[in-house]
Amino acid sequence: MSDDITTALTTNENRLGMFAGRVRWYEEVGSTNDLVLSWADAGGEEGLAAIADTQTNGRGRLGRRWASPPGAGIYLSVLLRPARSVLPLLTLTAGVAVADGIESATGLAVALKWPNDLCVEAGAARWLKLAGILAEAGTSSGANYAIVGMGINVRTAIYPPDVAARATSLEAELGRAVDRSTLVVECLAALSSRYEQLKGYGEARILSEWRRRASATLGRSIEFDAEGTMRRGVAQGIDDSGALLVRTTEGVTRIFSGEVRWL
Ligand code: BTN
Repeated sequence: MSDDITTALTTNENRLGMFAGRVRWYEEVGSTNDLVLSWADAGGEEGLAAIADTQTNGRGRLGRRWASPPGAGIYLSVLLRPARSVLPLLTLTAGVAVADGIESATGLAVALKWPNDLCVEAGAARWLKLAGILAEAGTSSGANYAIVGMGINVRTAIYPPDVAARATSLEAELGRAVDRSTLVVECLAALSSRYEQLKGYGEARILSEWRRRASATLGRSIEFDAEGTMRRGVAQGIDDSGALLVRTTEGVTRIFSGEVRWL
């Protein structure tokens, strides 16, 4: 597999923008986000990326574990050095890019669930998770960094029961084999191009692409933490800062981050 991915990355180098020549492949790591974070701390340059066949300590949002069985998914993290001004929309931009990448590589249309889950519809108002993004930003030695990590379920694998109940994979959805090399190339090409778009004042285009795919978000009932009190509402969409708009009995509330439970 390493050979296939490395060959595909070399063959398609002209499409990878800032990632060209900067992607390193590993058989096994703890977490690709942790590895790339260590590169950021050591002053690593924008565009460095790590991809692993398996992770022993894959991390999801809100401290959750990300099951990373060998050969079953894409576990990929990249190092970006964004200006502070683009940080608020970086996670949504990554979601749009991974959706673009999956669609180019496989033809499967995916929907976005705020802030960064990629889902497919499995019957009336029931959504299964296909991929997730963990974006972590900070400053090290005076330089900004953002790590964007993506986990995409490619093959049907044995996941923990709580994950299995609400997850799916590309191969389960498509009923055929999916080439991971093509997927990696398309996701990196899309991330490079959407990131350039974000930096080039293309926020409006990114927001409209996100909204176009927002069917896994719109009209869904949620529970959220409002300063220590759990409240309920119905998701209406996102505003131009990327915040989730939720209609409650008291009007529309904006949610910026944190725990949102989809009911
Ligand atoms: C989520 O939906 O909770 C985000 C999941 C992100 C998983 C990816 S896999 C590659 C990278 N390394 C990690 O440890 N996590 C991210």
